[in-house]
Amino acid sequence: MATASAPLTTHLQNFVVPWIFLLQSLLSLPPLILHLLLTLNLATLLSPSRLKYAWFSRFWEKFAPSVRLNSEARVVPLLQGRVSRGAVVDRPAHPPVSGTVIEIGPGSGMWVSLFSEDYLDKDSADGGGSTPRRATRSSSSSSSKPPSVTRVFGVEPNPDVHAALRRRVAAAGLSDTYEVVPTGIEDLAPSGRVPRESVDCVVSILCLCGIPDPQHNVREVYRLLKPGGRWYAYEHVRCTHSWYMRAYQKEREGERERERTKLIHPSSSAPLKGLINLFWPHFLGGCELDRDTGRSLREAGTWSKIDLEPCVDEDWSSPIPHIIGVLTK
Ligand SMILES: C[S@@+](CC[C@H](N)C(=O)[O-])C[C@H]1O[C@@H](n2cnc3c(N)ncnc32)[C@H](O)[C@@H]1O
Repeated sequence: MATASAPLTTHLQNFVVPWIFLLQSLLSLPPLILHLLLTLNLATLLSPSRLKYAWFSRFWEKFAPSVRLNSEARVVPLLQGRVSRGAVVDRPAHPPVSGTVIEIGPGSGMWVSLFSEDYLDKDSADGGGSTPRRATRSSSSSSSKPPSVTRVFGVEPNPDVHAALRRRVAAAGLSDTYEVVPTGIEDLAPSGRVPRESVDCVVSILCLCGIPDPQHNVREVYRLLKPGGRWYAYEHVRCTHSWYMRAYQKEREGERERERTKLIHPSSSAPLKGLINLFWPHFLGGCELDRDTGRSLREAGTWSKIDLEPCVDEDWSSPIPHIIGVLTK
């Protein structure tokens, strides 16, 4: 990962990566359309929402393993509780994920194996890493096993990823623990399926960028957490580094304000979207690059502890910067 003193090539790579994502996504569309035509799946072909799901699922199944590879050095320690102030730390700063868990937007299940004890009941004295192993806690650690994950609700609205998700749940030996909830997170609280203050942990990994009305829905999920419950987040967020990075990634400062003004004065000039985000949501299943997800999480309700920061090992030239951390209710 690049640092502030990273070579120019690294910065150039940072600028180019989003376009490679977009191109890969675009290239996955023609084979999908051909497949839908050959299988006479006109229902999907002619429905924009179903086509969007099918497109994202095809792209993500191919791309998600590399996303996991690039992110696991952060996400594995995060769920083990070994992340603090935006950095991975040797010793636990928070308890690991445990008890009843909501995983928002698990997609094809890239992270479900982390809910097994192989990962979460891991001695942190080795400095972490992503290799799973059964618990062999050192004598300096507590001799009692930490509580394990007892139940997971994987809330995933895209039906096209469910088969892959269930396959990975089974492969992780979690079929009795992990329930796929085939709806959007916005429908979870209203459904009454998960009572208020009944959840120990929420896990959101690269998914709050795509949920509707994040301010409202993050608040609704907050209400499902027990007092003392924890939200483990790893999300990409809007650029704040400089005007040029903001313009490259997201809508220009004050655009929302202008958009509101435009409703009142329709003749005012149309606002420009930031360059990448002009295309990104259309090519990547509705994912928005320019969300202030840190704010949505901080303002979801009263937290007793907020340890959520930008990743310290990310440099200024990333148009897809991340935040990482744990919020405790
Ligand atoms: C970029 S993918 C990330 C998937 C997975 N967390 C990972 O890291 O591999 C975002 C996921 O969020 C899901 N998603 C979109 N809208 C959602 C919603 N309203 N509620 C829950 N999940 C949603 C998408 O279907 C997709 O699977």
